[in-house]
Amino acid sequence: MVNIMQKIYAVCEKALQTGDLSKEEILLMLNCPDENSDIIFQTADIIRKKEVGDEVHLRGLIEFSNFCRKNCEYCGIRGKNKTIERYRLTEEQIVDTAVKSEKLGYRTVVMQSGEDPYFTASRIAEIVKVTKEKTDLAVTLSVGEFSYDDYKIMKDSGADRYLLRFETSSEELYKALHPDSDFRERLQCLQDLRALGYQVGSGFMVGLPGETMEILADNLLLLQKLDVDMAGIGPFIPNEDTSLAGENGGTLINALKAVAITRMLLRNAHIPATTAMGTLDPKGREMALQSGANVVMPNVTPQEYREMYLLYPNKICLTDDPAHCRGCITGKIHGIGRTVSKDHGHTLKHR
Ligand code: 5AD
Ligand code: SF4
Ligand code: FES
Repeated sequence: MVNIMQKIYAVCEKALQTGDLSKEEILLMLNCPDENSDIIFQTADIIRKKEVGDEVHLRGLIEFSNFCRKNCEYCGIRGKNKTIERYRLTEEQIVDTAVKSEKLGYRTVVMQSGEDPYFTASRIAEIVKVTKEKTDLAVTLSVGEFSYDDYKIMKDSGADRYLLRFETSSEELYKALHPDSDFRERLQCLQDLRALGYQVGSGFMVGLPGETMEILADNLLLLQKLDVDMAGIGPFIPNEDTSLAGENGGTLINALKAVAITRMLLRNAHIPATTAMGTLDPKGREMALQSGANVVMPNVTPQEYREMYLLYPNKICLTDDPAHCRGCITGKIHGIGRTVSKDHGHTLKHR
């Protein structure tokens, strides 16, 4: 044990200087006994402060449709789930939500939905265009897989960023969980987005059934290889309405380790303290912010639609409205001695 901890201290020491860590070094940290993991979180916190400072960037998340043509095994809004009510905000409602978010002090909105056939690239492009005309917001899209040409239509309309998690780096596990997607195509989407000049976010879930520490280490190395501008990581939380209902979920500590190691590997990338972390523990997002994260994505979806966008159960903020969440999260950020950024929070990477 002493020996293992000495090795982990040495890796942390090295990480302060460089993000060039080997898979073995990453695995050492992932396998660190939970009760001794603080050194990993503290090291990531130091690197976070040095690379991106104390400011936390807020992104207002608009969940504008829960229709989805896909059937990812873990997801509560998968197309074949007949037990949930479906909703779709109108184009006007989406723009209106963005305008209101700016009034609440957000500088970025993330427009997210299932893969809803109604929202074609040109419809989404129109929404982005009008939002850009009416506001000074940065716009991030998180609407799934499209062709290069469709991504181009959305980019040309003014979208700044795009989030598309690769979910897992294991092609085999990816296949088992995604009956209607292909791992290679997913990576191609990420490449297309980069080529088109989007600031690209990707990431994965921690603790998917069948995930090993090896796979988790490879997830981290894939994020580094993709050199993403943003890295979103959250624990898998089993959903009752899916085939994975009886499985174990990911743990907060493993998700925090993944966030911390991501900070070590990616240096100045933006890393959110995800809603899924806040769902596992009331202090989950604060813990993530103190373990490498520098972004929070509060929900700005009008309150009446929130409980229909249930990717996983017990999601936080379901009964709260956008103004409440804005105040709540600011309090949490100040409570840990950090500040809320006033700028757009664009990527810090120079390309
Ligand atoms: N638990 C945790 N995260 C989930 N997501 C989807 N379903 C779940 C779940 N059951 C995540 C996926 C997706 C993101 C929008 O939400 O990683 O990319
Ligand atoms: Fe649809 Fe995304 Fe859920 Fe998959 S994870 S079923 S693509 S909303
Ligand atoms: Fe929504 Fe705290 S962020 S209630």
